[in-house]
Amino acid sequence: MPYAHITGTGFYLPPKVVTNDDMSKIYDTSDEWIVERSGIKERRFIEGELGPSDLAIPAVEMALEEAGITKEDVDLLVFATLSPECWFPGSGCFLQAKMGFPNIGAIDIRQQCTGFVYGLSIAEQYIKNGVFQHIVVVGAEVQSTTIDTSPEGRTVGVLFGDGAGAVVVSAKDTPGGILSTHLHAQGKYAKELCVPEPTSTRNPKVSPGGKGLHAYMNGREVFRHAATRFPEVIREAMEKHHWSNDDIDLIVPHQANLRISQKVAEIMNIPMEKFFSNIHKYGNTTAASIPICIAEAKREGKIKPGDKIILASFGSGFTWASAAIQW
Ligand code: UT7
Repeated sequence: MPYAHITGTGFYLPPKVVTNDDMSKIYDTSDEWIVERSGIKERRFIEGELGPSDLAIPAVEMALEEAGITKEDVDLLVFATLSPECWFPGSGCFLQAKMGFPNIGAIDIRQQCTGFVYGLSIAEQYIKNGVFQHIVVVGAEVQSTTIDTSPEGRTVGVLFGDGAGAVVVSAKDTPGGILSTHLHAQGKYAKELCVPEPTSTRNPKVSPGGKGLHAYMNGREVFRHAATRFPEVIREAMEKHHWSNDDIDLIVPHQANLRISQKVAEIMNIPMEKFFSNIHKYGNTTAASIPICIAEAKREGKIKPGDKIILASFGSGFTWASAAIQW
């Protein structure tokens, strides 16, 4: 049975930097409030008309180059986003066409912040079962165009940013790679963090005024569940492989809020230095956050061959997931 290794990583952030002071021109907010509550100092927003598949292109190119393969070598695309350019088809099809991939399959994942880890689990299975040789898994978001810029949008609006990350998962004989993935969902909390429209339950699909097109988040409830589910799902991955806190080289959490990572570190008694963080630069990039982190951590020398790494995420659904990787 082949092993599923991450052989290439890539990321792309649009160049436009939006600081907290910039956000305070839109909302009644402040740099002090945003930094204290979330750790975010700035985020990136697109300029002009771009979709997640556009942001994904440079990230995928970087990942292919690192993996030493070409588009023709790729057997499957898996694309995670909550901000697709269309109601349908999914962003994976747009990426496939824009990059000129062969007519390979393109699967779209709708698990929001947890989407990338869900996508990785699909790649893991196809590779380990010997079906495919190379799979590209993407997380990409354009959220700046979807935020509610009215006064009541401030809590959610200051948190999110645009960006893309990608990995190549390849079949190898060398033991290691993605050892396991652990997926969870609890749909009874679906409405606590959601974009309710457009909806197929009635016509018109959008309510007058379009408020339902913006994200609703019960921030405190989401925070409370995240603080429980992150440690739980990280431990699930550790226990599966009998890893102790000391065995772990790096935890890559979804970048939702620096305070959540600090809380998880405290609960698990793992030093904060083992938690990768870049939320201060990019805000919450949802499905893109973990692959951006992996690509940056790799380039900063924080991920080395043989390292034991846990990816973990929590978000809308509620969904939560982890992956244990021996790099
Ligand atoms: O990626 C998906 C997963 N998402 C998450 O994990 C997010 C989880 N939740 C959170 O990170 C936090 O709940 C937030 C950062 C969203 C909010 O922090 P909080 O400490 O829970 O604040 P809060 O919503 O309880 O609001 C506290 C106060 C309120 O004022 P009053 O009622 O105390 O007078 C809000 O109106 O802060 C006010 N507020 C703001 N003030 C300045 C809310 N948003 C803002 C803002 N600027 N942007």
